[in-house]
Amino acid sequence: MFAGVDSQKTPRNGVHAFSVAPMMELTDQYCRYFHRCLSAHALLYSEMITSNAIIHGDRDYLLGFDPREHPVVLQLGGSDPADLAQCAKVGQQYGYAQINLNVGCPSDRVQSGRFGACLMAEPDLVARCIAAMQDAVDIPVTVKCRVGIDRDDSYEPFFHFIETIRKIGCDTFVVHARKAWLDGLSPKENRDVPPLRYDFVQRIKAEMPDTTFVLNGGLHDHTQALKYFSNQPAETGCTGLDGVMLGRDAYRNPWLLSEVDHLYYGKEKSTLQRSDFVEMMYPYIETQLARGTRLGKISRHMLGLYLGQPGGRLWRRHISENAWQENAGVDVLKQALELVENAAAKVAA
Ligand SMILES: Cc1cc2nc3c(=O)[nH]c(=O)nc-3n(C[C@H](O)[C@H](O)[C@H](O)COP(=O)(O)O)c2cc1C
Repeated sequence: MFAGVDSQKTPRNGVHAFSVAPMMELTDQYCRYFHRCLSAHALLYSEMITSNAIIHGDRDYLLGFDPREHPVVLQLGGSDPADLAQCAKVGQQYGYAQINLNVGCPSDRVQSGRFGACLMAEPDLVARCIAAMQDAVDIPVTVKCRVGIDRDDSYEPFFHFIETIRKIGCDTFVVHARKAWLDGLSPKENRDVPPLRYDFVQRIKAEMPDTTFVLNGGLHDHTQALKYFSNQPAETGCTGLDGVMLGRDAYRNPWLLSEVDHLYYGKEKSTLQRSDFVEMMYPYIETQLARGTRLGKISRHMLGLYLGQPGGRLWRRHISENAWQENAGVDVLKQALELVENAAAKVAA
């Protein structure tokens, strides 16, 4: 059984209800496959891939993925409209469901290439990039941005940025709801230090109700995230955004994805256990091992599955110590499951 089977049938507007954030070095194809086992409907993103890498690099390595991961969004980094259009086209040919432009990443490397968060200062250029990509593909082209890039706290530059891009027909914005301070903070600090401004995203949604806004940044669990998601009954005080995106906490605690289809897409509550999802991975892992992929490349994304559970540390330790050994296979996971089951039985006794 595989949870991803009917994922293509999710209605277009509901596609964004819940997504796992693009994260470099984390949301690779192996991670996405595991996440897809846990949720058939969550929208999954690639890591950011630069237009230069796609134009000059090994495309199968950078872009290849298992169709069962769908729906998957390809996130691009770049600021040259023609290059981005070419890459969007390649992404469409590889079967991605959407193209997303990264206008939120604050690292130095990214700034020097004139893309990522520094582009928030150049809404006209971003609009040209989006227009070029829209012309090149039939799939949706979306933007992931911040609420600003300087220490000035005003809302107007954010509004102006969104308005400029919306005018050329882009109707979906994922907003990491804090500014990126490009004057000295490290990328990691820029994900934590600038204050969260959910109010900016709520305000712009109220002012542009026909535009899709996905809230990202500092959302830790469903109780918190659902407060901002529009499918909730009015009495919950929900503020009506079209979707939520979780990054670090979805990765750290993948079990929370097992509730996504029920909570955000109105599907039946899942009765599957953690061990069912591990077993669901076996055939995929066998196929990958036969292609020469090391177990550790896949299992590293599964380490958080038993977070906070009896035996959770044994699970992590057994996999971390054994998955990178020569010839490591699914037996490592089976042994780790046994350790967890024994630990759970001890607690129950
Ligand atoms: C390790 C790591 C890598 C990231 N890489 C990307 C990236 O490639 N593209 C992007 O738009 N954001 C990237 N981000 C930012 C996340 O997508 C997200 O916006 C941020 O972590 C805030 O969400 P969270 O508080 O739910 O983690 C990255 C974050 C982390 C922790």
